Amino acid sequence: MSPKITVIGLGYLGATHAAAMAELGFEVLGLDIVPEKIELLTRGETPIYEPGLEDMLRRHVAGLPGSTGRLSFTTSYAAVAEFGDIHFICVNTPQKPGEYACDMSYVDSAVDSLAPHLTRPSLVVGKSTVPVGSAARLARRVAELAPAGDAAELAWNPEFLREGFAVDDTLHPDRIVAGVTGERAEVLLREVYAGPLGDGTPFIVTDLPTAELVKTAANAFLSTKISFINAMAEICETAGGDVVKLAEALGHDDRIGKKFLRAGIGFGGGCLPKDIRAFMARAGELGAPEAVAFLREIDSINMRRRVYMVDLTRETLGGSLLGKRVAVLGAAFKPDSDDVRDSPALNIAGQLHLQGAEVTVHDPKAMENARRVFPTLRYADSPTEAAQGAHAVLHLTEWREFRELDPAALGEVVGERHILDGRNTLDPALWRKAGWTYRALGRPTA
Ligand code: UGA
Repeated sequence: MSPKITVIGLGYLGATHAAAMAELGFEVLGLDIVPEKIELLTRGETPIYEPGLEDMLRRHVAGLPGSTGRLSFTTSYAAVAEFGDIHFICVNTPQKPGEYACDMSYVDSAVDSLAPHLTRPSLVVGKSTVPVGSAARLARRVAELAPAGDAAELAWNPEFLREGFAVDDTLHPDRIVAGVTGERAEVLLREVYAGPLGDGTPFIVTDLPTAELVKTAANAFLSTKISFINAMAEICETAGGDVVKLAEALGHDDRIGKKFLRAGIGFGGGCLPKDIRAFMARAGELGAPEAVAFLREIDSINMRRRVYMVDLTRETLGGSLLGKRVAVLGAAFKPDSDDVRDSPALNIAGQLHLQGAEVTVHDPKAMENARRVFPTLRYADSPTEAAQGAHAVLHLTEWREFRELDPAALGEVVGERHILDGRNTLDPALWRKAGWTYRALGRPTA
């Protein structure tokens, strides 16, 4: 009989994982401690915008018309322990306020709440991104608290999904990493992932610390790649080069590759920024701070992008932002997401506002979240409305509908035709042809 699965923590990661496990044919019980979230999910709805996720939920949530009924939700740890053979921990691990280190309290509390109910053989599988060494500590904790003793085991199985592609990344991962301490855990995880493994997905078995490190190292590498090209953009700015052409040419070397070489206002979101900081903090605790000291520079290059974009806007507007109308297209940290956590776009909008500009923001999906974080900015229902009378238009999140804007039509409503492309995805020739000045970081002025 197939193992029964539970998923603890139903945010981006957990909600997607729970629905994907049901899609793969398993009986799944999802737990969250927030009752409102459970109510929403039980109706087949999500508190987040993630393409394809609600459809996948509705195919499986018990009680919904036409669903397989394989997916249910609860707030009870006793119910989860009773139901499941394999328990995935998917709670978040944010940055601690005022520190670089990661806040492990949600993971710790999930394990402490679950383990005392584990009376029969079971496998607890961590998926959250955690500082290396956490899994071994949690394995000891499970063994100590579980009435089943050694029969309750812990494994680490990091998740590499990207927001905006969460469903596809979960159903068709590019690799599966299984950090285990024994054969039983490996066998169970192979059973869980039999679908993707059958499609040829590589399965890499490691010890616990290596599994934790794969995730941390992957996000550190991706951050480094983005900051590398943004550092080259800084050089292009002073030397008069074009970073977009530079990246294109570099990308043809398949040892380098073209992905994650998009220069612009840098990386944000709930993962890369906090993960590189947590990595530095953990390396410090382990007595190896110099090994990842370069990440401090990666972080600084990234944070400078936001300031440079504000500077470029000020310069474009003749040296002062005071009283100037600025339209900001984009608030989410990336397209196809409504997530504004550490969003470069929203950060820049906020800085412009604080420096005296009158800022109007439009985002296709992130308006509500943005308004909560920055209630003092103005919000408009369309790009055209945001651009009314604007002295400059800033393109800060590369939603498709922004890339497809008609420069001539938008030119009719603005006060002055200045477009600043923070994502280097608009076509400069097209905008210039329609009478706009096009400016971007790391690219020649005209
Ligand atoms: C990232 C990783 O890509 C996932 O593999 C990982 O699972 C996830 O974090 C996580 O730790 O949970 P995500 O935060 O969804 O995923 O976003 P990315 O697609 O990595 O983009 C991060 C930021 O980098 C965005 O702000 C994006 O605009 C920016 N970016 C990306 C660039 O500035 N340039 C690029 O070339 C690529």
